[in-house]
Amino acid sequence: MTRIAFVCLGNICRSPTADVIVRHHLEQAGLDDVEVASSGTGDWHVGEPMDERSAARLAAAGYDPSGHRARTFTVDWFDRHDLILTMDAANRADVLALARDDTDRAKVRMFRSFDPQAPSPDADVPDPWYGGPDTFDEVLGIIERTAHQIVRHLLDERAGRV
Ligand code: 4NP
Repeated sequence: MTRIAFVCLGNICRSPTADVIVRHHLEQAGLDDVEVASSGTGDWHVGEPMDERSAARLAAAGYDPSGHRARTFTVDWFDRHDLILTMDAANRADVLALARDDTDRAKVRMFRSFDPQAPSPDADVPDPWYGGPDTFDEVLGIIERTAHQIVRHLLDERAGRV
């Protein structure tokens, strides 16, 4: 079993988008030994569904955003996940501030380190909350291609290719 957590700030835009898309492709690929979840480092939106602008873009692309409810990243997420993918450098710093030891720290990696088009492995997924409609479109594109790469990586791992 591989358990992956996606983490952003509010858990209503970027990390739930990654959760929905990766979950969809895992189901399509028949990878039923991978679990995904998402949370935010901030707690302002706990219990809320996805931001309607993110949800609209997911629905238009053929995904179902309706099941999401926002949660907060807490220290026990280190115990329940093998890989913790943060959306930007601030999310990474906030997650690492909660890490108890090197085992926790080793689980944390930037989401776009899997993006084949990232300008650097440390690149951020821009925060659409503070951007305009174009940022929501850009974020969907980044997350879709990165999600594909994550699923491909997991399939390669299962096949012993990496
Ligand atoms: P997310 O976007 O981190 O991608 O979910 C945000 C959502 C809400 C806020 C910030 C970022 N906020 O400040 O409420």
